[in-house]
Amino acid sequence: MTRRPYIVGNWKMHGTRAMLSEARAIDRAAQRHMKVEVALAPPFTLIHPIHREAEQIAVGAQDCHQAEGGAFTGDISATMIADAGAKFVILGHSERRQGHAEGDEIVRAKAQSALAVGLRIIMCCGESAETRESGKAVAFVKRQLKASLPPADEMPADVAERLTIAYEPIWAIGTGTAATTDDIAEMHSAIRALLIELFGDEQGAEVRIIYGGSVKPENAAEIFAVPDVGGALVGGASLTADSLMGIALAASEPFDG
Ligand code: 13P
Repeated sequence: MTRRPYIVGNWKMHGTRAMLSEARAIDRAAQRHMKVEVALAPPFTLIHPIHREAEQIAVGAQDCHQAEGGAFTGDISATMIADAGAKFVILGHSERRQGHAEGDEIVRAKAQSALAVGLRIIMCCGESAETRESGKAVAFVKRQLKASLPPADEMPADVAERLTIAYEPIWAIGTGTAATTDDIAEMHSAIRALLIELFGDEQGAEVRIIYGGSVKPENAAEIFAVPDVGGALVGGASLTADSLMGIALAASEPFDG
């Protein structure tokens, strides 16, 4: 890893104001782990309260609508999350692709809309168990990413600053069993090659690729030792400061020597 490891907590649909104390604890701990970039994506309702208090961590959203505004009952635009204090947005998570029928085209439109208002994006990709068993995981993820990312000529010049890729195999999410380090290594290297093809040697090599799917303090160190793993997108283990910072600590260790 040439850049600071990026550890992002995705709280999913967890968290009321009672969780603000946990966010505070994460923020305080992040100030002691400056070699790691820690960020939190709480539910929409907690973006502003966390942003208001946070001194170290960036706050982001878990989704946004592709339109700037209009008659879209229940939806939230990129402008609105930015206004609430979000600095980034997670897009194309499998729980949105599956549960909300978001196809690559919608995900791409969301990315364009988020980038247009200055947000950073975390673009998720990942195959199902069935696709992995069929031996087509790498081809699937490359195709999915290519179709979900805006074309290179529409990306900001500082692509590597604005874009992070999160590889999250669906079968590893919330199951307690992360992908093997061999599987992660193979996929991250294929994604790196694609990023270089799309965005050129310089930017393509610098875009962070983070892994998600049952990352916890116990397995984080071995995952971070895999080449081209630039951090983690963490679900369940991000809900307490102790476990999220246990993961952050594992990410900072290789840099302590
Ligand atoms: P878990 O860490 O709970 O497996 O969730 C991963 C994830 O989906 C993060 O976006």
